[in-house]
Amino acid sequence: MAMAPPSESPVRVPAILVHGGAGADPGDGRDELRAGVAAAARAGWRAFADGGRALDAVEASVRTLEDHPRFNAGRGSVLTSAGTVEMDASIMDGERLACGAVAAVSRVANPVTLARRVMEDERHVLLVADGAHAFARAVGLPECDPATLVTDRQRARLAAHAAGRGGTVGAVAVDRHGAVAAATSTGGMVGKHPGRVGDSALIGCGTYADSRLGAVSCTGAGEAIIRVVLARRALDLLQETDDAERAARLAVDLLVKDGRGDGGLILVDARGRVGFAHSTPLMPVAWMMPTLDAPRVPF
Ligand code: GLY
Repeated sequence: MAMAPPSESPVRVPAILVHGGAGADPGDGRDELRAGVAAAARAGWRAFADGGRALDAVEASVRTLEDHPRFNAGRGSVLTSAGTVEMDASIMDGERLACGAVAAVSRVANPVTLARRVMEDERHVLLVADGAHAFARAVGLPECDPATLVTDRQRARLAAHAAGRGGTVGAVAVDRHGAVAAATSTGGMVGKHPGRVGDSALIGCGTYADSRLGAVSCTGAGEAIIRVVLARRALDLLQETDDAERAARLAVDLLVKDGRGDGGLILVDARGRVGFAHSTPLMPVAWMMPTLDAPRVPF
């Protein structure tokens, strides 16, 4: 399992940590992946500089990755077995345990922002498919043509029957007030059955944040992540160990052993200590914190 010790300073807040999915191919376009996650970390950092809270930072980072065609979220999402895009996303504010999510959406360019609107509306936590599209129209989020989300790269992957791995993007952040937030967005798994919903839409599985503990975003085999409720379990492990790096590693061990699948996760605690781990060959990550003048991109 790959792991790295990222914390190098006692001055750790605000902090933003992003991932570009545990399904990344190590032999294919590593520079593009590095530039993509670095840009996402910078977008989250800018949100802090503009006076934003942790929630604003994770939304900004995930939007950047959704807009980047190289990552499996928003534009660039993998395709279902029917050749369509169906995206899942969720976001959580650790201050209030407020959360929102969408699943199987195809007509929004930035599902994470739609998830945030669901959260802010407060009536529901999860909206799916056409109900989510109707909600997007009602709150004034522009619809997009689903065809604009489909890339040649993903058409080729589906044609090559590259079923399974896809990746996911996510971000966790803590702001200077000690509030944490997490967000996750994905096109899901290559060749998935239409209507399949993965962990990224499920609070506690792909995403969780509680400012008393920390924030987590997961990536990998959604069914395995759901089986072990991975994001919430990672925070339990963080509470037990008081060690972000060790908690991330133990959580991925749990995913592999009990969940029977591969993947990874990123986490941050309320003091700005960050950790990540993955059981796959590559999970692009980048982070920013006050002691850095550019995002750290350790791969
Ligand atoms: N982890 C993304 C998915 O399985 O849909």
